[in-house]
Amino acid sequence: MPLHTHNETGERLTLHKFAQGGDVNAFSEDVRQGLTAKQKYLLPKYLYDDLGSRLFEAICLLPEYYLTRAEKSILQNQSDEIVSHLPLPSRIVELGSGNAEKTRFLLEALLKRQTTLHYLPIDISEESLRRSSEELLGNYDRLRITAYAADYFRALRSIVKADENEHTVVLFLGSNIGNFSEDEAMNFLQQVRSILEVGDALLLGADLKKSEEILIPAYDDALGVTAAFNLNLLVRMNRELNADFDLRKFQHRAIYNKKFGRVEMHLVSKEEQTVTLKALELRVHFAKGESIHKENSYKFDLEQINSLGLNTGFALQQTWYDPQQQFSFNLLKAQ
Ligand code: TRP
Repeated sequence: MPLHTHNETGERLTLHKFAQGGDVNAFSEDVRQGLTAKQKYLLPKYLYDDLGSRLFEAICLLPEYYLTRAEKSILQNQSDEIVSHLPLPSRIVELGSGNAEKTRFLLEALLKRQTTLHYLPIDISEESLRRSSEELLGNYDRLRITAYAADYFRALRSIVKADENEHTVVLFLGSNIGNFSEDEAMNFLQQVRSILEVGDALLLGADLKKSEEILIPAYDDALGVTAAFNLNLLVRMNRELNADFDLRKFQHRAIYNKKFGRVEMHLVSKEEQTVTLKALELRVHFAKGESIHKENSYKFDLEQINSLGLNTGFALQQTWYDPQQQFSFNLLKAQ
């Protein structure tokens, strides 16, 4: 059921919530599966509770985390040029919008080319969605927002086709595509493609392959914010699943797996221990040095982006870079 908010921007904001009730069960079941697997793992989407979303915003400000700055510089300097390649008028669907800080450059460029704009952000964090939506509506009075507090797949399924004279442009920023395995990325892009018509577009931010000396600190910063971001999932399990993880007994570790071209993030158990998750009636044993595999962040070259597109019904039309060529911004046209 759509939930309409009531405030001064109320008529221009509709918020759909799919991230409640039943989702506690989804979290429990996913945690059970992950922590009873041979190589223990936890799904990255659960990192983004209210605190996790704010910690991620802090990551984006770190000197080591070059991705956000590189992508922002592309959007800041080249949005007019990017928008000139888009089918217009368009509505914008954004997957994992977060604080939507970079998005505003594109929205602004679009508003120069069309009189009104419908923006449909999707984010797992309702709090982030609310904050960013209200801020955007306060700034742009020709903007209308339909927001989805949900995971990507759930939201994609419930987005209705655009009306006939409007195109759809999907935004997927921050190299979030890199958090999927190859199969997952294909499956995901296919689902994106299914809500598009021929000629619609996907704007895909993808981080480029580079040296370990730059990659590792980006995922294991000196201040320890990325470590806190990852450890916060233990805090969340303690709170929501009545677990007794001792945070001091786990350590964040990032390694570059060259063969797969990905940064891997792990939480390593510093000693042998057993953790109890009361809500799951589950006890989990950790050997000293055993890890929970938290997340991968794949790094790309253009060839990979091109073939990912071709395999899922898109043609790579154009790529834009930051001045140091660390990051790429790719226009994929649905065909
Ligand atoms: N998509 C981001 C990335 O791969 C997300 C991210 C950054 C992240 N740092 C992280 C996810 C640390 C989990 C843990 O760069």
